[in-house]
Amino acid sequence: MFSWLDHAVTAWIPDLGGLLELPTDVRLTVLAFPITLGIQAEAWLPQGNWALQRMVKDMGTKRRREFLAGRLCAYRSLLAMGVISDFPLAARDRLPVWPSGVLGSISHCTSIAVAMAAPTSRFYALGVDVESLISPSTVADIQRSVGSDSELICLAGAIPCRARALTLLFSAKEALYKALYPLVRQFKDFHAAEIVDCETKSLVLRLTEDWSEEWRCGACVKVQYIWLNDEVLTAICLPYAQPIHS
Ligand SMILES: CC(C)(COP(=O)(O)OP(=O)(O)OC[C@H]1O[C@@H](n2cnc3c(N)ncnc32)[C@H](O)[C@@H]1OP(=O)(O)O)[C@@H](O)C(=O)NCCC(=O)NCCS
Repeated sequence: MFSWLDHAVTAWIPDLGGLLELPTDVRLTVLAFPITLGIQAEAWLPQGNWALQRMVKDMGTKRRREFLAGRLCAYRSLLAMGVISDFPLAARDRLPVWPSGVLGSISHCTSIAVAMAAPTSRFYALGVDVESLISPSTVADIQRSVGSDSELICLAGAIPCRARALTLLFSAKEALYKALYPLVRQFKDFHAAEIVDCETKSLVLRLTEDWSEEWRCGACVKVQYIWLNDEVLTAICLPYAQPIHS
């Protein structure tokens, strides 16, 4: 069943869900695809999926490669849940369209793609992000737009390297946005949440303003994280207190 996938793939990175301490019913798939290997993203396009082929037709090479790597991860996460499905298409606002009963999240950088999927009976929000280490020369330019001085001080205790701290903060906030956007449907900039605690595998973000009626200023969300050499992967899983039975 996996033959065409395995043929096309550069390297699945196993067991990160366990290292991130994600709930066991959240399926995380991570794919490394170093550019130097020259993988052709077209090899990942499932034959006969015309809707997807139309979607990628006008994308540039880099965008197509990353988009398809994300879709490949999503497909594999769905398979791990026992869901046989096409690659998820994208809605107008770029949200992936998941099969009924599933929610998920996708992220990619130039050499790593990641997807997380889980049953809607157990979870109401998922957000994942992978980010390459921000270069030291960029740190000064972007740090004010990513976080406040007090946030960077909060991070410095756990992560002395400023570039790493900022990369983690950036990624955690993107994961938060991706988790909550499907619920609030509003754009929020990086000052709409702040870090209030950071430990070796997780941190806590607090909303600094109302995101919706339900997501009020002061609400806190835990973000799991792990470093893969020079990339950081952040993940948010929000479970219902009780599973929903349909
Ligand atoms: C939407 C956003 C988070 C995507 O991040 P990115 O760094 O461009 O790219 P990533 O690879 O990490 O994620 C892209 C994937 O996220 C998904 N996505 C896109 N928009 C999304 C949204 N509004 N909500 C949830 N997921 C979204 C898509 O699957 C997309 O991949 P695809 O287009 O190949 O399908 C980013 O573009 C953005 O708008 N950020 C500003 C808002 C923000 O993060 N605020 C912080 C609040 S504290």
